[in-house]
Amino acid sequence: MADITASPQSHRLHLSKGQTLIKAAAAAHIALRTDCGGAGKCGRCRIHPAPGARLSAPTEAEFFHLAPFLPVKGIRLACQTRSLCSQTVSVAIPEDPGAAAPFPVVHGRAPSGLRTVGVAIDLGTTSVDLSLCDPADGSPLVSVKGGNRQQCFGYDVVARIAAAGDAAIGLGRLRKLAVDSINHLLETALAACGLDTTAVSQVAVAGNTTMSLILAGIDPQPLGRYPYRSPVTTFPPFTAGQLNLSLPPETPVRLFPVASGFIGGDTVSALFALEPFTRGSTTLLVDIGTNGELVLCRRQRLLAASCATGPAFEGAAISCGMPAVAGAIDHLTIDPLTGTIDWQVIGPNSGNPPAGICGSGIVDAVAGLLAAGALTTGGLFNPASPLVTPAAAGGAEAVLVPADKSRHGRALSLTQKDIGEVQLAKAAICTGIELLLARSGTRRIHRTLLTGAFGVGFDSRLAFAIGMLPPQLAGSRVQAVSALAGKGVRKALAAAEDFEAAARATARAVEVLELGGDPMFEKRFIERLAFPAVAAGDTGAHAL
Ligand code: FES
Repeated sequence: MADITASPQSHRLHLSKGQTLIKAAAAAHIALRTDCGGAGKCGRCRIHPAPGARLSAPTEAEFFHLAPFLPVKGIRLACQTRSLCSQTVSVAIPEDPGAAAPFPVVHGRAPSGLRTVGVAIDLGTTSVDLSLCDPADGSPLVSVKGGNRQQCFGYDVVARIAAAGDAAIGLGRLRKLAVDSINHLLETALAACGLDTTAVSQVAVAGNTTMSLILAGIDPQPLGRYPYRSPVTTFPPFTAGQLNLSLPPETPVRLFPVASGFIGGDTVSALFALEPFTRGSTTLLVDIGTNGELVLCRRQRLLAASCATGPAFEGAAISCGMPAVAGAIDHLTIDPLTGTIDWQVIGPNSGNPPAGICGSGIVDAVAGLLAAGALTTGGLFNPASPLVTPAAAGGAEAVLVPADKSRHGRALSLTQKDIGEVQLAKAAICTGIELLLARSGTRRIHRTLLTGAFGVGFDSRLAFAIGMLPPQLAGSRVQAVSALAGKGVRKALAAAEDFEAAARATARAVEVLELGGDPMFEKRFIERLAFPAVAAGDTGAHAL
């Protein structure tokens, strides 16, 4: 069985009586992963207090998530553990095999001989993508992906907005965590290219509206209350010194403008990458993250809508989920006749044992379970299926990877709750698309582009199989395009002084449709929670 090891770096926590370790860690700027927002459900907020600390007894959630590490190694869940008195305690943060570890990948030509590079950043709620690129044409040299350290304050933008208004956390701390995340990746990428910070000529960043506001030092709280408007849509030019980036202080930094409170700079950047987006064809852009952004490009118009998808397709809120980084299963097949499960793992050595499963793998797994009859269209496990077994915590589960084949010695399974999370996410996307098409009077889509942080191995056919995409799109050409926002940022870097005008023109062209108040949304959403019936002859199996 794989071990859990504590990192050599230890921290001192000042605890008041009754305070949870997760609150104290947040106050001390210690980034813990908190996928379930402190509900004791994800098991990710692991912490190793020094022996002798006076702490509350382990909870049921801790025994469930931590056995056998809790009694043997003293590992605890920070959201479950309270201090029994005022005290100062040394803690270490155990390595999380499902954490978003940096994953440098060299693209295209070798960077030798290059004197200057541009830095393109897609600042996401869950993960951060950073590329060093040729400033002349924006072509990528090295790309690095890592987690957004703000995750210790919750997995979605709603939690971050609340954290910005929390006196114990605040905007400054969130901003620092975002900057720390970027600086860590920047250092990794420059080292991979053998460059130092003076080689960086300029930086461009795109993020959703909440992330962009936080990075710019603007309070995002107006996004959390009616009418959910962003206080600004454009940002002034910054310098690296103003943002505390680890670069020469005068290095110019530009932020993509946003279109609205929920149509952020990442979507504007993706549209910028697609320009010219109207070649007589109607294109639907579907960007799947913790929020789903939909943009219909039709007859010179850009109609946009957003829907709350939750984090299922980013790997959070799923018991064995993780971001699409090294160690994650990004593609999986289930033979409906034999029940044999095969998988593919992201990373330099794809034969490595998997640590978790990212969004594309989750879509594959659910589609495979449906095709094998292990899941009903209502989303319940079929107890008669050999793929379904009783879960230790009660109920049923489908084991995708047995414990002895995983990296950490725990089985990777989908639980009934995980299936429910997938249903909520896919129903939100499907309903959003249907209403956007209906409200815009669009009958025919020529091209559908799927993008987002769900994984590079995404099989768009399976998006129909689980009902993420409505049947109206079946006649369109569906393509999965990875990291489209990052492509837009690199293109903007190459545009140099034209960046402001071009990016702002794209943002201004977006017309936002509010779907939240549409009376049809709730009705249609509930209908779309069910999975489509499996078509006769569709085994759901697709070659890896
Ligand atoms: S179990 Fe503690 S944050 Fe999820």
